[in-house]
Amino acid sequence: MTRIAVVGVGAVGGVVAASLASTGRMEVAACVRSPLGGLRIDGPDEGTRTASVHVHEEFDPARVSPVEWVLLATKVHQTAGAAPWLERLCGAGTRVVVLQNGVEHLQRVGPLAGPARVLPAVVDIAAESLRRGHIRLFDRPRITVPEGEDGADFVALCQDSGIAVALTGDFVTAAWAKLCLNVANGAITALTMRRMPVFAHPRVARLGRALAEEARRVAVASGARLPEDLAEQVIARLRTLPAESGSSMLWDRLAGRALEYDARNGAVVRAGARLGIPTPYNEAVTALLEAVSERDDAT
Ligand SMILES: NC(=O)c1ccc[n+]([C@@H]2O[C@H](COP(=O)([O-])OP(=O)(O)OC[C@H]3O[C@@H](n4cnc5c(N)ncnc54)[C@H](OP(=O)(O)O)[C@@H]3O)[C@@H](O)[C@H]2O)c1
Repeated sequence: MTRIAVVGVGAVGGVVAASLASTGRMEVAACVRSPLGGLRIDGPDEGTRTASVHVHEEFDPARVSPVEWVLLATKVHQTAGAAPWLERLCGAGTRVVVLQNGVEHLQRVGPLAGPARVLPAVVDIAAESLRRGHIRLFDRPRITVPEGEDGADFVALCQDSGIAVALTGDFVTAAWAKLCLNVANGAITALTMRRMPVFAHPRVARLGRALAEEARRVAVASGARLPEDLAEQVIARLRTLPAESGSSMLWDRLAGRALEYDARNGAVVRAGARLGIPTPYNEAVTALLEAVSERDDAT
């Protein structure tokens, strides 16, 4: 049986662990800090209404050994904390799939993965943790990875799991396209503490467009091929999402946890500074998110 370890079994990691375990083709270990007691996924349609899956749980990095696949799904700012898991789980034949947002997957995880190969991913899994191990899934899960041997093997791994995996020959564009969406929806839902209907407000939509447009300019200068009206498309898409959907940064804000702003709006500001592209809107919301994140962390 193929051995898989999921590090970071929250909303995304929980959906992926449960989906892979449900194939019966692999041994899935959930690497956790406290017990899950199984996984329950409430899906968006008949076929995925409710699935309860038992996964083997590991609590101590010192007790695990190298596996074939590591799926890393902590928040980006929790990556360094997950390093002891990666150190023990990664061997020469291991592939690490980075199921995190942003555009800096390889720089971040490469140095922690030892001899393993790292596969970056764009995650389209709209999911909310309702309780520990109980996840609400808003749409069919989709993941995009770069073409190549590792990508093709990941497609095969996910077969029959309910996760649709797409291969792309242009990962830079795929990752930046997602980031252009995230800089608007994550920041605005977290700062306003509101779900998707917040984008019906014209002034909020204008701010969302400005954030996405700055990110698009930085993306194009970074080599991404994105249409000129992307920011408009971002707002149009956010306005069609179910009213109850939000963003992982909103769930963190509501729960008083630290926010993943640095890998999103912060990444746009960093790349903009490097490329000489002004990003005043993203700088402003990064400052606000940083302040909110610190204050919520301390309370
Ligand atoms: N949720 C979404 O809708 C969504 C959609 C697309 C992309 N994403 C991206 O996917 C990534 C994961 O997001 P998420 O929403 O799934 O996050 P999440 O629900 O907060 O889950 C993160 C999990 O990582 C665990 N964790 C953190 N540090 C750990 C450590 N040292 N050892 C073991 N476990 C550790 C946390 O455990 P504890 O419970 O012990 O804190 C938590 O269960 C992020 O980059 C996010 O931006 C999320």
